[in-house]
Amino acid sequence: MSKLRPTGEATPRTDPLVPGADALSGRLRRAPENFLTPDEIGQVGKGRRDFLRASFLAAAGATAAATLGGRNAAAATADAAGDPDILNPTPWGSSLGQPVAANPYGLPSKHERGLVRRQSPGLTQVAAASVSFAPLQGLFGIITPSGLHFERHHQGWQDIDPTRHRLMINGSRPEFVKTPRVYTMDDIMRLPPVSRMHFIECGANTGMEWGNVAVPTVQYTHGMLSCSEFTGVPLRTLLEYCGADLKAAKFILAEGGDGSSMTRTIPIELVLSGEVMVAYGQNGEMLRPENGYPLRLVVPGVQGVSWVKWLRRIEVGDRPYAAKDEAVHYIDLMPDGQHRQYTSIQECKSVITSPSGGQTLLDKGFFTISGLAWSGRGAIKRVDVSVDGGINWTQATLQTPVLSKCLTRFTLPWNWDGRPALLQSRAMDETGFVQPAYGQLRAVRGTRSIYHNNAIQTWQVAESGDVNNVQIL
Ligand code: MTE
Repeated sequence: MSKLRPTGEATPRTDPLVPGADALSGRLRRAPENFLTPDEIGQVGKGRRDFLRASFLAAAGATAAATLGGRNAAAATADAAGDPDILNPTPWGSSLGQPVAANPYGLPSKHERGLVRRQSPGLTQVAAASVSFAPLQGLFGIITPSGLHFERHHQGWQDIDPTRHRLMINGSRPEFVKTPRVYTMDDIMRLPPVSRMHFIECGANTGMEWGNVAVPTVQYTHGMLSCSEFTGVPLRTLLEYCGADLKAAKFILAEGGDGSSMTRTIPIELVLSGEVMVAYGQNGEMLRPENGYPLRLVVPGVQGVSWVKWLRRIEVGDRPYAAKDEAVHYIDLMPDGQHRQYTSIQECKSVITSPSGGQTLLDKGFFTISGLAWSGRGAIKRVDVSVDGGINWTQATLQTPVLSKCLTRFTLPWNWDGRPALLQSRAMDETGFVQPAYGQLRAVRGTRSIYHNNAIQTWQVAESGDVNNVQIL
């Protein structure tokens, strides 16, 4: 799948806003998970969006105030009759607020309680061997708040006592590691740390969409994706302390401490590059238990399954281990019935997170198209956006920082004229690899895979303003 190049060339964009657009005109209804009951979410899944508009219009400005369009709804009221929220004293402006440390560990506002990670109903048999998806539609910038980081556990999560956690390093043959060692958390946290921002994406992200449109919102199409600042020690440093023979070594095996026997082979080149990290920190604090507390492997650019959580052992060896999660699972089924093994790198990919499936554009006018792009092979070089299903492309603005193997936020101002539109983003990374269209990807990979679907996502904006998940070849 290297160097696929779509035919449409993008027009570079220089002006910051769409000419002639009123920057406060567009109002957007957030994705349904923010305000719907589970029953109503089920209705969205069945394609019933008409009631969304009706329920929103009935709720009028009160609900709208909490949305991106809130300030515009308020402004409209003020023009007509005077806005009570600006004319009258507010309770919060005329009473004593809560004391410091009322929440010793701070919580999000109660008005944001709809923004949570969610399970896809019916996706798995048991919730301990399942996935929760990050609410990409409601996040800004590139860092995923730790409490919203997606989760993927094969046998549930544990909250391990760090004083009892151990990391053992040994060789598959004695000569591979001169001094096998067992590290405590104290041993590891005394070593000089490094902190780096990286994305983690499950290889199965967007896996439900291989054959056809399956889920309504970006939370479920792309939410097995998160990005954090990780802090830890390069694995290479630990191996050197143990006297590992880094010339004879070809692979390492990483093993988790949970009940799932999660074991993964990592090529030694990734370790030698210094990028693979034994991490205890996530966004300035210790890892969350769900994300591997107290220790996980960080393997930048590689699919999430190799980021072994609750890391308890590293073995240095000279051949791939073909563990169950690399011989039976996490393999790519090809159209001829064969499968590809060890396809670990997460190729260049992007998605528009707003406007996105389940949201509703409430009127014509100015919107900011915003999304995320990433590549397991390095930094994002450029993102093009189309509003007509890939016929014309415009170069989006990349927000800084633009880092290697990290999420990159892109934006493009857009004046919606009220007619149906097809929104797409197409990312290119520093190697020149261009994200493929569904037709290009399926021509090589077929439709029966689960893993590594990096096709261009399309959101269809209907004349009604409703945004739906569709696929364009
Ligand atoms: N490590 C262990 N020990 N057990 C697991 O179940 N799941 C893997 C990986 N590491 C897993 C694990 C998979 S499939 C993914 S995608 C990532 O962890 C998910 O990491 P997260 O839960 O922090 O998002």
